[in-house]
Order: sequence, then structure tokens, then C-alpha cells
Amino acid sequence: MLTLGIETTCDETACSVVQGGKKILSNVIASQTDLHARYGGVFPELACRRHFDAFLPVLQESLDRAGIQPEEIDLIAVAKGPGLIGALLLGLNGAKSLALAWNKPFIGVSHVEAHLYAAMMGCEKVEFPALGVVISGGHTFLTRILDFGVYELVGKTVDDAVGEAFDKVAVMLGLSYPGGPAIEKLALQGDPSKYSFKPGKVKQHPLNFSFSGLKTNVLYTLKGQNQDKSAPSVLADEEKPHIAAAFQETALNDIVDKTLLAAAEFPSKAIFLGGGVSCNGRLRAIFAQKSSLPLHWPAPGLSSDNGAMIAGLGHHLFLRRGGDPLDLEPMTRIPLPDKIL
Ligand code: KG4
Ligand code: ZN
Repeated sequence: MLTLGIETTCDETACSVVQGGKKILSNVIASQTDLHARYGGVFPELACRRHFDAFLPVLQESLDRAGIQPEEIDLIAVAKGPGLIGALLLGLNGAKSLALAWNKPFIGVSHVEAHLYAAMMGCEKVEFPALGVVISGGHTFLTRILDFGVYELVGKTVDDAVGEAFDKVAVMLGLSYPGGPAIEKLALQGDPSKYSFKPGKVKQHPLNFSFSGLKTNVLYTLKGQNQDKSAPSVLADEEKPHIAAAFQETALNDIVDKTLLAAAEFPSKAIFLGGGVSCNGRLRAIFAQKSSLPLHWPAPGLSSDNGAMIAGLGHHLFLRRGGDPLDLEPMTRIPLPDKIL
């Protein structure tokens, strides 16, 4: 069974052809980072317009690279949310138009659930119960995975997503967007022990995350107590790698420690990770050092937003529950995966 996956929730226009829910025949991603770099974050209206321009070329390239014709596609899967409304409308209407024109079934899937599926795509055998960790620019949560599509949320951020904290701290450090890779690179030259930052704690919810205090901590260290973002830095440029390293070490150890706390509380056979922050090499090293459970990371090209994870998840959900009607609406917010099916 061949599935075309379409992803347009935020600032990537992506299409992919996946066979049997696992074998990736093509995975084409048109990133918009150049467009949003000058704003230090995603500019929603511009993102939507760029999706409009990129969609058909990306679609064509995904078919060409897979070496297939539209009539060979068996299913069209699309990310129905969560995401930016204009961006979602473009992807969803694109998918519906193709379903009508090519006379194919169509299914909408949750983007965050697909991030978890991305790590499962490379696994020979997926065993449950497992623990899922989604760490991206828009989401940060821990969930038990009881079966494909059956979740129990155990922890979430109460303010910023971890990727968002990386992006905002990068702006403070004068780095380019997206901030995560820029901070990771700068931190390689820094000594994390030169500055001491504290991870966020949420009262009575030891598995929840909070990154806003850490972010403010970095701001005041860089610009002086109670200063705002536009204030000049009081530190010399030579200190920036140390700040980047200390921030990164604090944020990433917080994720690892809370994940392992959850794994101790809820028996789990493995940990699946997904979302843009799961690219981070330092995160992978800390997890490898601290965790005794098998760790499953997305393959290259599957951590950040992509169409392959949408196609893969769409395949499994379609076999289980069939497709969706063509009046399916986009969902800018989807409740975190909490017993979805
Ligand atoms: O999953 P994604 O592409 O989009 C969302 O669904 O949000 O994640 C993008 C986020 C951005 O905040 C970006 O800074 C972060 O992932 N990111 C990283 C790294 N690569 C991307 N954060 C830390 N280290 C990285 N190497
Ligand atoms: Zn994402």
C-alpha cells in the first residue's frame, strides 16, 4: 500500500511517499527558515503564502523521486493539526483536492502523534507499553504509549516548548533562526559549568516542564537583573558560548531526568523520541549515558517536520479505522495525545 503524506502545519512544506507505513520512497521537505530568520521565529501569514507557492512543486518532486504515478497511490494522509490555521488550510485543502481528483481515500492525522511515529518507523518490532517524548518548537510532553494510537499523557510543559526556549535564547545571544542548531553549535565551544542555571519545577507535578524561568534566568545573566530583551548585553561576546552551553545542559538534562522519572514510575519497554529538538547530539549523548532502556530516535530527516511520518501514521490509522470524510476541518489545537483512539 502506497501512502502520500502531506505536512504543512508550520514552516515546512513536505510531501512523502511511504510504502507499507515504513519504507520511505521519497521525503521532500521545503524549509522556510530563510523566510522567518529575520523575525527570530515563524511569521504565520508569510508561512501560509510560502506553502501556497511550494506545495505543487514539492508534491511533484515527491512523486518523481519515488518513481510513481498518481494512480499508484492508495491513500492520501495529511496533518490536520495542531498548527497555524492558514498553513493547515492549505495542506488539508490540497489533500482533499487530490483525493477528489485522483479518487483516493483520505485521512487526517495529528502532527504531534506523527512525531512519535517517526521514531517507530525504523523499528523492526515495536513493543508496548513504551514511553514517548515529543520535544519540538510547538510541543513538549511525555506520554505513555500503550499501543499504536493509544496514549496516556504523563507530563507536559506549562509554558514554553523546549524548542521555543532554544529559539528565544538564541535571539538573546544574537544567533540565527532556528535557534536550536545554532545553540548546539555554539555550545560546543563553551564550558557549561561557568554559569549555573536551574531547571524549571512545577509544584505537585514532578513530570511537568517549565522553561520560562530558565529563559528569564539567561536574559538577566546576559542583560542584567530586571532588564528587557532589547537591553544591551552586559557580558563580553567570549561569554556567549558558555551561556549557550549552560542553558543547553540545563534544559536537556531536565528533559532526560523527567523522562527517566516517568520511566521509573510507569514500566516501559523502550523510549521513543520525536520533534526537532530530538536532532540534538548532546541530548542523545546524555540520554545514552543516563538511560538503561532502549532508545529509539527518528532517522535523519525525520526529527523535524516531514511528510513521511504523516504518511506512516496515516497508513496504520487507515487500516484500523478507515479514512475521513472530505468535510474534515483543520484543528489548530488538538488535545495532547490522551487516549486518542
Ligand atoms: O518538530 P519541529 O521541526 O517543528 C515543530 O513541530 O515545532 O521543531 C522545530 C524546533 C525549533 O524550535 C528548533 O530550534 C528545534 O526544533 N531544533 C533543535 C535542534 N534542531 C531543531 N533544538 C535543539 N537542538 C537542535 N539540534
Ligand atoms: Zn513538528
